Amino acid sequence: MSLIAPHGGSLVDRTARDAHRESLLRDASRMPSLALNARELADIELIANGAFSPLEGFMGEADYLAVRDGRRLANGLVWTIPVTLSVTAEERARLNIGDDVALRSSDGSLAAVLHLSEIYTYDKTREAAEVYRTTEEKHPGVQALYAQGEYLLGGRINLVEHPHGAQFSPYRYSPRELRALFSERGWRRIVAFQTRNPVHRAHEYIQKCALETVDGLVLHPIVGETKSDDIPASVRMRAYEVIIENYYPLARTLLAVLPAAMRYAGPREAIFHAIIRQNYGCSHFIVGRDHAGVGNYYGTYDAQNIFGEFEPGAIGITPMFFDNTFFCRKCDGMASAKTCPHASEHHVALSGTRVRELLSRGEIPPGEFTRPEVARVLIEGLAAA
Ligand code: ADX
Repeated sequence: MSLIAPHGGSLVDRTARDAHRESLLRDASRMPSLALNARELADIELIANGAFSPLEGFMGEADYLAVRDGRRLANGLVWTIPVTLSVTAEERARLNIGDDVALRSSDGSLAAVLHLSEIYTYDKTREAAEVYRTTEEKHPGVQALYAQGEYLLGGRINLVEHPHGAQFSPYRYSPRELRALFSERGWRRIVAFQTRNPVHRAHEYIQKCALETVDGLVLHPIVGETKSDDIPASVRMRAYEVIIENYYPLARTLLAVLPAAMRYAGPREAIFHAIIRQNYGCSHFIVGRDHAGVGNYYGTYDAQNIFGEFEPGAIGITPMFFDNTFFCRKCDGMASAKTCPHASEHHVALSGTRVRELLSRGEIPPGEFTRPEVARVLIEGLAAA
């Protein structure tokens, strides 16, 4: 019984081990050195452990342009989000093609080594327009892009030691580890659920609808950098534990973290999220309403429609689409316009944003929104934060 193949056929492993790792650690003091931001640091872990397969490093110009303009790598494989490492002109002046560059976290510890093969300039406005569908700086992904340095570095990396390697450690599985767990449990058809929010009733409903048709569910929250008004990952993790303990079948549910940063690129990020989950061994991926969206930049179902723009087989993982779901007081349960005949006055609209609004006013979200155990954890967690 084999699991779905990784994107591009095999799982990348760019983790330096044993003598190779020792030699990188020894030589790093003589290498030019760069301090990475949170997004870049998150990316090196995901490149190294194969979550970003087939990427082996930060993109060179051919891949960057092919992804930006054509949503594919230069070799034709689907890829929708640039994975880049930027530097300022000042930093660039200290670097030469062929260098090994020490990639460090903000405290100076060595995280990885970049084998620098390309240095190139890029057009930020064009990237914003293509990837984020807006050039407005108030979009958080665009804001991060505009704050980057003027040059991009391309090259393969080797991970030495990830500074956040132990964070959320019981749940921080690599793609290889998660695949091994699936095999142990005898799961072949596995649905992954991406989230940056605590699980509310709409999330729970679509997860369980999906689980009805597959072997197992992976609750796979993003715990890398998110917007400052999103609920912190540490608080969310407690909320995930509590909802799983109380409402999910333990033999069919796994909680695992995805240590990636959110880009808020809506449709393009939905494809990216799906490919990453394929690399973790999942056969199915849930895409609901305004997946990875922010503000009103994307249409409610843009992130579903984009899957239809690729030829069959170009993306191995199967997306599972869900309409906007709500609590219907007449049905006395969760539903969507597909399954509920009642007028909208009977519906309680649900979203992470609404839950956050209530919590920020100190109000307990009603049972139609959130399970009481989750509401309690969120209120306590946010009061302590
Ligand atoms: S996201 O940025 O990670 O997409 P969020 O955590 O809110 O945000 O959503 C996780 C997943 O649940 C996404 O696939 C999203 O489309 C879906 N989703 C969230 N709320 C609803 C809802 N009310 N109805 C249907 N799908 C939803």
